[in-house]
Parts: sequence; C-alpha cells; structure tokens
Amino acid sequence: MIAPSILSADFARLKDEADAVPGADWLHVDVMDGHFVPNLTLGLPVVEALERATDIPLDCHLMINDPDRWAPGYAEAGSRNVTVHAEAAHDPRRVARDIRAAGALAGLSVKPRTPLEDWVEVLRDYDTLLVMSVEPGFGGQKFMPEVLDKVRTARRLVDTGHLHVLVEIDGGISRETIEQAAEAGVDCFVAGSAVYGADDPERAVEALREQAVRASAHLGQG
Ligand code: DX5
Ligand code: ZN
Repeated sequence: MIAPSILSADFARLKDEADAVPGADWLHVDVMDGHFVPNLTLGLPVVEALERATDIPLDCHLMINDPDRWAPGYAEAGSRNVTVHAEAAHDPRRVARDIRAAGALAGLSVKPRTPLEDWVEVLRDYDTLLVMSVEPGFGGQKFMPEVLDKVRTARRLVDTGHLHVLVEIDGGISRETIEQAAEAGVDCFVAGSAVYGADDPERAVEALREQAVRASAHLGQG
C-alpha cells in the first residue's frame, strides 16, 4: 500500500491534491499540535472537510499530546485509520478501544528511538503499527535505516501469528529507500515529498508501488 502524505501537498488546494493521487491506497494526514512535535499543521475541521472532498480513505497520524481525548473524533469523522503515538497516549489500550468503537482502525506509532519491545503487548489491541523512520515533525527528512530492525521484528511477530497489525513506515520513503523498507517487511509506505515533490504525483505513486512489490516479491516464500 502507498499512502501519500499531504504534508508535502499544497494546503490551499487539498481536494485537488487528493485528486492528483487516484491510485493511493490511503491518504496520510499529519496532525501536529506544536507541543508533541515542534510543528503545527491542521486539525479535525480540515480532516472533516477533506473526508467530504475525497473517496480515498484517510490515514490520520496524530502527533499530538493527549490523543486519548482527541483521537476518537478523527475516527467519528470517517477516517479509515487513526494512529496515536505510544509516547503520548496515557492509556493506549483504551484509546485503541475508543478509536475502534468509533469505526476506524486503530494505529500505534513509535518514534525512531522508542523500542518496539515495550509495546508488543499493547499492540495486540491495535490494527496498525506505524514505525517512524524520521523524527516526527517535518517532511523531507533523511530516512533512518536503523529503524528497519523494528520492522523486521514486527514482520516476524505478524508472520508467526503473535500480532495482527499492518506494518506501516513513515519518513524519508523515496525511490532510493523504499526497497530496503519493503525487504524488511513493510505493508504500507507513507511518502510525502517523494509523491508531492514529483512532477507527476500519480505516476510517482505507481512507481513506488512497483518498486516495493518487486523488492518484497521474495518475502513469504521461504
Ligand atoms: C513527518 C510526517 C510524515 C511526513 C513524511 O513527521 O509524519 O508523514 O509527511 O514526509 P516525507 O515522506 O517527505 O519524509
Ligand atoms: Zn506522518
């Protein structure tokens, strides 16, 4: 799956920017509060408007404090997946329950330096795991290959039936980095600048997908 991140899109033309990636599986929406991360982006009213403007399922990535309070609203707005940060949630199990009860998939994200081991039990209550491959806050940063160990661990736990999450990666995914992420076992690739920085975003999505499919073709065959 490819999830273009609208953080790199033109915020004044969000509907057009969604329409520019008709092949996207999910549209990734970065919600930042200026506290959990140093950047500030958009919130629920914009997500509600975007939900009305596109048929592409929204993948809301909440980089905010107290997601326990705010996450269910994003699910009620019709998002397909709502991801909260492990480092920010007060009661991550309850948040997952609340998100699911409001009709969305529940996602848990870990920053690059947050170990996966601490969250494996909690992840039993989640549908997606978002592994950050940059420090959250800004688009266009350099991919951190060291997080791929967490992807490999998660892939193993999923393939052996210990976890049932979709493994998503976010940050620095491009033509240069997507193959190593695919080989490590990623299911869903967020890409901001690599899609919206391209001359043809639609084509960029397809090129990334082809590359990921090719790189992961050998997975699961042994
Ligand atoms: C960063 C955001 C990402 C960002 C990725 O904090 O969570 O979703 O849009 O942008 P690129 O793909 O340019 O690294
Ligand atoms: Zn994101």
